[in-house]
Amino acid sequence: MNFPQLPESYWRKTELPQFKELNSNLEVDVAIVGAGITGITTGLLLKKAGYNVTIIDADSILNGTTGHTTAKVTVQHNLIYNELLNNLGEEKAKLYFDANNMGLKWIKDYITKNKVECDFTEEDAYIYTNSTNYLTQIENESSAYNQLGIPGEMISKLPLNIPVKTGLVLRKQAQFHPIKYLKHLIKEFVNLGGLVFENTPAVDIEKGERPIVKTKKGFNISSKHIVITSHFPFLDMFGFYFTRMYAERSYILAAKIQEEFPGGMYISAESPTRSLRYTTLENGQKFVLIGGESHKVGQGVNTIRHYEALKSFGEQTFRVEEFLYRWSAQDLFTLDKVPYVGQITSNTNNIFVATGYGKWGMTNGTAAALLIKELITTGNSIYKDLFTPSRFNTDPSVKQFFINNADVAKHFIDGKLEFAIKKPDDLDINEGSVVSVNGKRAGAYKDEEGRLHIVDTTCTHMGCELEWNNGEKSWDCPCHGSRFSFKGDVLEGPAKKTLRRIE
Ligand SMILES: Cc1cc2nc3c(=O)[nH]c(=O)nc-3n(C[C@H](O)[C@H](O)[C@H](O)COP(=O)(O)OP(=O)(O)OC[C@H]3O[C@@H](n4cnc5c(N)ncnc54)[C@H](O)[C@@H]3O)c2cc1C
Ligand code: FES
Repeated sequence: MNFPQLPESYWRKTELPQFKELNSNLEVDVAIVGAGITGITTGLLLKKAGYNVTIIDADSILNGTTGHTTAKVTVQHNLIYNELLNNLGEEKAKLYFDANNMGLKWIKDYITKNKVECDFTEEDAYIYTNSTNYLTQIENESSAYNQLGIPGEMISKLPLNIPVKTGLVLRKQAQFHPIKYLKHLIKEFVNLGGLVFENTPAVDIEKGERPIVKTKKGFNISSKHIVITSHFPFLDMFGFYFTRMYAERSYILAAKIQEEFPGGMYISAESPTRSLRYTTLENGQKFVLIGGESHKVGQGVNTIRHYEALKSFGEQTFRVEEFLYRWSAQDLFTLDKVPYVGQITSNTNNIFVATGYGKWGMTNGTAAALLIKELITTGNSIYKDLFTPSRFNTDPSVKQFFINNADVAKHFIDGKLEFAIKKPDDLDINEGSVVSVNGKRAGAYKDEEGRLHIVDTTCTHMGCELEWNNGEKSWDCPCHGSRFSFKGDVLEGPAKKTLRRIE
């Protein structure tokens, strides 16, 4: 199967400041683990509030999901409001909207006040359907908007050449270049005296009155508060996050098109999801980001097929001149679709976590930063109970909890029963597959130079069997979404240990 090997995330082309590794012990007020949109925004807010703050990242800053997002900045989060209204009630559904609207407003105000050049434009956000199965859902979402005071309108056509039965538009939402935006925040953070360290993975936390972040190289950061913004919390601390979240991957293609893109941001209600927005190259030319094809990590079809599906959707919708970039990334979903933001467990009041944005992390991540700042500075917030990770809303959380964990159990067992016939020597150049080595399941990839990389495919998190992802050349776990390079290094958690290499 062939799909051009295009350059990776367009956003990541932007040059960023570089930071050293941590090579000594530190004493600070707040230690933040993870430099994505949540960690950086939280760091800046707390620095401005007078705290002595340090941010560390395992990799280079902004190379996680934030560096691979679509960066629509909107409170239209698929069809969430009717679901929240039914499951959590009007008060909580309204709080969810208010928190995200506050996130959106904070971003807009920051960009305006600081004149941040980050390709920010106000855009209308559309959710649409061409399937009769979704007509009622769109109508229900529209009623939920009315009940919650969200100013949406029903529509019967789009400004784009896409067949539509009905849809909902929310005016004056926004889009931006996430890295240009966050580059400004990180510079302000550093100018105010904040410290940033890259290539500094946190591996453990020692609890206490002054909890300590322990880094892989053996250095300690002692602090009054720790904030874990590592996407999947790098440490579970008996919060059982792996039983309460799942990871979904999706794909993005950037296309140069012949016609003028009419503006607006679009997402289909039905699956496979189709998401569209434009962005502008340095020379002023617009190109379109075509996204979608979500699936649980490690549970998709051959990953290249996802790019092919987006390519054919792009070619049906536009006169495509050229595809310029392709990339994929994953985000985390909680049991009730509301992020987990607050104390990591109910009895730990100086360690916070923010995660589970369900692919809407631009406003949710900013709202999380505002909430954590409030919790640290005042100890309370009107949003505390809605977002607290210790909540357990009996319905639908119980149902979703069992669905998630039954799915994990199924993949655990299926993987163990899978019998590989292929041998490493059967592989072509650039091919990866589950193979049999001495009668046992293993994973092999033959690189461009013909070298074989063989690893034990048992996930180091909790023992599920990994699947090959040929789009990203990685080993992905169908249970909780960990990913490993073909050499066995951890790319995404919750796993922390590398895979065993087989010589
Ligand atoms: C394909 C796709 C499209 C999306 N589109 C949109 C969109 O249009 N609009 C929207 O609002 N949201 C969107 N999202 C969601 C949004 O991008 C994410 O929710 C958000 O970027 C998550 O930010 P974060 O700061 O939590 O995590 P990340 O950006 O992943 O940052 C976490 C950081 O923690 C670091 N880290 C991890 N472990 C450790 C450790 N042990 N020690 C130190 N550092 C560590 C990582 O290196 C990383 O830099 C999309 C998501 C995907 C996958
Ligand atoms: S991520 Fe949990 S078993 Fe692999």
